[in-house]
Amino acid sequence: MRLSTIGCGYLGAVHAACMAELGHEMVGLDVDQAKVDKLSRGESPFHEPGFPELLRRNVESGRLRFTTDPAEITDAEIHFIGVGTPQMKGRYAADLSQVDAAVSTVLEHSRPRGERPVLIAGKSTVPVGTAEGIAERAAASGKDIAVVWNPEFLREGFAVKDTLHPDRIVYGLPEDRVRGTVIREILDECYAQLLEEQIPRLLTNYPTSELVKVAANSFLATKISFINAMAELCEATGGDVTKLAEAIGHDDRIGKKFLRAGIGFGGGCLPKDIRAFMARAGELGVDQTLTFLREVDAINLRRREGTVELAAGLFGGRLVGRKVAVLGAAFKPDSDDLRDSPALDIATRLWARGADVVITDPAAGDGLRRARPDLYVVDTVEQAVKNADLVMVLTEWKQFTELDPAELLPRVRGPRIIDGRNVLDPHRWHEAGWDYHGIGRGVSTW
Ligand code: UGA
Repeated sequence: MRLSTIGCGYLGAVHAACMAELGHEMVGLDVDQAKVDKLSRGESPFHEPGFPELLRRNVESGRLRFTTDPAEITDAEIHFIGVGTPQMKGRYAADLSQVDAAVSTVLEHSRPRGERPVLIAGKSTVPVGTAEGIAERAAASGKDIAVVWNPEFLREGFAVKDTLHPDRIVYGLPEDRVRGTVIREILDECYAQLLEEQIPRLLTNYPTSELVKVAANSFLATKISFINAMAELCEATGGDVTKLAEAIGHDDRIGKKFLRAGIGFGGGCLPKDIRAFMARAGELGVDQTLTFLREVDAINLRRREGTVELAAGLFGGRLVGRKVAVLGAAFKPDSDDLRDSPALDIATRLWARGADVVITDPAAGDGLRRARPDLYVVDTVEQAVKNADLVMVLTEWKQFTELDPAELLPRVRGPRIIDGRNVLDPHRWHEAGWDYHGIGRGVSTW
């Protein structure tokens, strides 16, 4: 099929390349010339395992092109909308200006050829009610353009796998059954290979499809904040939250995933999605329904200051002049994404409290130097930990979880370690002579 993706950021670029991989002719449209040039050369603008190979292969085959010229999307049968919906400045609500602009572009440039409608397939995370509004705009355009909401559930670090082998596909369709069936058939054709794998495909209406996405992210955020609240209780009582999580996780109604206590969640999705969800609930007059998400957000943000306090506590409350090696800046491993990163936030707070902070990250270092020239960023763990009074693992990159405590010991000035992701073995670090501190993880004999 001939397809277009409007917006070639994380979501859009990966989606575009994956659709080309399935054999479709894909044009990726973006307003950022530099990004388009880079993608056109087959170079990834971000760190994502497996993506550079996929991108190069499909650009070279000629099935995947990137452009800033909207005239090139004219013949596409489906236009995927993959632009960002960031948090508005100073407000909780999502900024939909990029979605509105993308829809305007499609309505202006798309040229339906008569037999069946052209689709706008929304993948961006939007407040409930957005798809209906877009469908009204499409109907008013006088062109045969239909709207389907097809939320994306990919995780950074697993983006290619999550797009080519998702655990479910959701179609948000209009209530008109005849029209909805035609839309379903077109999208089924596009995803034929995925559907052959028996990936569950759920058909529903617009509001449900929009809610599915924010409900999923809110649930994940709640799970993390729940375990971080338990971590606070463990801190107050001498409990070990990692054992607690393991024990409750054996109950498969609860499950083990997303129960890793630590410095909390960040990134371009979970934090802004729960806030936009609360804002939307307020607009709908049901704000009370989601007040628990305020607490989820508060618990999460509290972890950051809590971790700074933990660090300060190791020096009698004063961080001035203490050399702190921060291992990790990205919001999670296998990503160079610094958006709302707890690691970076903690590093900044430590620096504001007077600590000499040295940061290293296997992928986010260059981006960090550009974004934050005020911070001291080095390339290697060895450089970061040299003469450190405190080492903090804040993003659980494999390179950090596999560190050898005995090998690191002679390099530091004070053998203190804060394991902000609870990924190190406390006993091993203890035995090697380190003063180990996890999050909600008292060192117990058991
Ligand atoms: C999240 C969702 O997991 C995806 O399903 C969704 O498609 C995506 O947002 C999106 O809306 O586009 P992502 O932002 O890539 O994906 O990151 P996650 O893997 O969800 O991690 C989010 C944060 O939670 C990270 O900072 C991570 O370190 C933290 N986390 C995760 C924990 O603190 N504890 C855990 O147990 C798990």
